[in-house]
Amino acid sequence: MNRPVPITDAQARAALDKAVEQVRLNLPKYTKKCQHHSSVNGIYPACKNEEWTCGFWPGEIWLAYERTHDDAFRQAGLTLVDSFDRRIRRKVKVAHHDMGFLYTPSCVAAYKLTGDEKARQAAILAADQLISRFQPKGEFIQAWGRMGSPLNYRFIIDCLLNLPLLYWASRETGEEKYADIAKRHTATCMENSFRPDGSTFHTFYMHKDGTPSHGRTCQGYRDDSFWARGQAWGVYGSILSYRYTGDPKALDTFQRGLEFYLTRLPEDLVPCWDMLFQPDSGEPRDSSSAAIVACGLLEAARILPQGETARYQRLAREMMGSLAEGYAVPVPAEGAGLILHGTYSKKSPYNTCFPEGVDECTSWGDFYYMEALTRLCGDWDPYW
Ligand code: GLY
Repeated sequence: MNRPVPITDAQARAALDKAVEQVRLNLPKYTKKCQHHSSVNGIYPACKNEEWTCGFWPGEIWLAYERTHDDAFRQAGLTLVDSFDRRIRRKVKVAHHDMGFLYTPSCVAAYKLTGDEKARQAAILAADQLISRFQPKGEFIQAWGRMGSPLNYRFIIDCLLNLPLLYWASRETGEEKYADIAKRHTATCMENSFRPDGSTFHTFYMHKDGTPSHGRTCQGYRDDSFWARGQAWGVYGSILSYRYTGDPKALDTFQRGLEFYLTRLPEDLVPCWDMLFQPDSGEPRDSSSAAIVACGLLEAARILPQGETARYQRLAREMMGSLAEGYAVPVPAEGAGLILHGTYSKKSPYNTCFPEGVDECTSWGDFYYMEALTRLCGDWDPYW
């Protein structure tokens, strides 16, 4: 197998600088408005701050600010903080669990980098909103839908990335309730979302008495398949849980999730959207999964003892080498993204998602690509 060439430090710096220039080009289009979750024919429509994905674009702006210290990025990031503050105060489309995806890269990042008090308050309100979805029977944060509705008495693997907001809120406020809910949810997720072979269910239903029921997919191909991004959320989310809790089970979950993910990768280390498929199937890739896993690997390399981390570093550099070489958007244009060939939701005969964003740029794919490059360019204090 011809493995991708690991990205060098110089290549990572060049790729990050190119990404920063694309973000700069996009500022006029998405400062008063937000960026849609995925591109349409390679260009992101502008949208209202109403989607679950709107935090990723401000996250890119803050990463660009960290790289350049250019005040234009700081100002744009703070303008978007105003929008996120209004959204949480008016409760605009926040009746779901994605508060961490929304408020960590937008407001926690803004607060960490500028000390902006409005950003801090908005992020704490978002953490309050997130814990309001905790179901004590079953000990999980309900992902979607009316609280308690039998159709949606479930959590999803993606939620692991929402939890750093809760650990942050506990540190900021001194109130343990946020971290306590994060830990309980993580325990339920690790127990049920991960199958014995390290693969994952996208969504997992609980019975109303709090006992586990069954796994199902929404965005994967079918219930027993291997939705690539779910696996990626599981990998990155479990190493973040380990950083916050020191729980050996979280580290073991990271290792098992990662090893399964690696067994299903094609030669260029960028998976098809569901890892049931290999590229010869003609099914589209999901480049965002590679970027997310690279971040998880680099986080592991940052926090684990040195002897264990050389392999993680190398894998991350190979994945990022593949993305920078084969997937980066070649020609900058207003409204373009950073990496091609992401898949948001692909309809299958067995899943329940609405088809959109297939073989396009995705806002989180772009964000995690930039995050991984930032990690490769020096010490980075994670937003998560
Ligand atoms: N969190 C939803 C997704 O990854 O598409």
